[in-house]
Amino acid sequence: MRARPLVAAFVAALLLGSLGTGCSESKSEAEVERAVALTGFLNSPPEAEDLDRSADVARFELTAAPATVAFGEGTADGYAYNGQVPGPTLRVPVGATVEVELTNDLDVPTTIHWHGVDVPVAMDGAPWNSGVVEPGDSFTYSFVADRAGTFWYHPHFDTHRQVDLGLYGTLIVEESSPPAFDEDWVLVFDTAAEALSTEGGHADCHGARRPIRDWLVNGIQNPSLDAPAGARVRARLINASNCGYLSLSGELARQIGGDQGRLSAPVDGEELVLGPGDRVELEWAVGTEPRTLETGMHTVSGPVPGYPSLPLATINPAGSAPRPDWLELDYSADPPTNDPMHTDIVYTLSGSNRTDRWLISGELFPEITVQSVSLGQQVVIEVRNLSPTEHPFHLHGHAFEVLSVNGEPPAHYRLEDTYNVGVHEVVRLLMHADNPGDWMTHCHILPHADGGMMTVLRVTE
Ligand code: C2O
Ligand code: CU
Ligand code: CU
Repeated sequence: MRARPLVAAFVAALLLGSLGTGCSESKSEAEVERAVALTGFLNSPPEAEDLDRSADVARFELTAAPATVAFGEGTADGYAYNGQVPGPTLRVPVGATVEVELTNDLDVPTTIHWHGVDVPVAMDGAPWNSGVVEPGDSFTYSFVADRAGTFWYHPHFDTHRQVDLGLYGTLIVEESSPPAFDEDWVLVFDTAAEALSTEGGHADCHGARRPIRDWLVNGIQNPSLDAPAGARVRARLINASNCGYLSLSGELARQIGGDQGRLSAPVDGEELVLGPGDRVELEWAVGTEPRTLETGMHTVSGPVPGYPSLPLATINPAGSAPRPDWLELDYSADPPTNDPMHTDIVYTLSGSNRTDRWLISGELFPEITVQSVSLGQQVVIEVRNLSPTEHPFHLHGHAFEVLSVNGEPPAHYRLEDTYNVGVHEVVRLLMHADNPGDWMTHCHILPHADGGMMTVLRVTE
């Protein structure tokens, strides 16, 4: 039994027009199907539940159901969690046990994967580990949120299609004493064309070789974000698109976090490429002038010079307080680990847009060789990209340290779970194998993963 009514259920009830009953149980299938997914949450998608720092179990309910989803100007027959795209933001204190009951009101199976969180393998949402949640069924995911950071959740069954249609949301794990930002924004990026371009809402992303011009932020094209002048804003950016790349200029903001929470040192003034699946935490010091967040043109094939930048969102300050200094944060400034100079696993990435076959080490999933490592092993993985496109390399169940890119170590210790490997780049990663199971390892350009660019890394007990 649940200790208290859930805000998520309340929000769902509100959206589905069944509020009078005080619960969401009375919704008819027709109501679910016709519910128009609420979009346009500024400056953040609503939270599924109030953050209760004293709670050691954070419980949520998510219902996946068909919905008419507003993607920018257009609508599409899509899918939504609790009637909204992006799905609710789940915010929990670090160390909490997270319990999420997923109800599947779709007419196809689904699962939830907790991207970036080192959950037990049975909670990972990979069909071969935990099976799928059949239509009409429920399943409760349970795991400990043991690292603070910005994570996200999405299905891992028919992944390309289900994510494309609108099934994704944010999981925020807060630090035990969060820094004193004035605002904490969640900005989820997706592209409208992916969902709108083909019947059934399922795009193949071929268009992604051309620059994308229709980015949505929390469902809105080029929204205006309100902030008090003089505020320090923490902005958590999630690239939930299947194929789109963001390339943010560094002049507006300072990067304070990556895939796996806060960085060991801030990054100022550098261009930031955010591939599919990537997250970044920025600090914005808001002055009195409106500022536009822009993306340079970047496709799966890399940067596209000669195109003007595209506005993503405009930050509109109210008031006259001057731009503040950066917030004083604790940075360890740890150096990267020295490369152990051996290699346990080499993954080569190859394939071509012409054949739409995308391979890891010459193999197409599911005809793959499972690589095994033992629990406790320090595993050095070398990823070599031999293909003409970039690939966000993603590993389940473990974060990894970036040891070097083309032989060059990063300036500071850097932990990630999704790393965009540029054309012809060689990236060396260090993974501490501390989570037993058969883990998905794949490119997060979801049509690439569907086209075979996926393998399995086994951590044996
Ligand atoms: Cu977002 Cu298999 O991951
Ligand atoms: Cu993942
Ligand atoms: Cu790829």
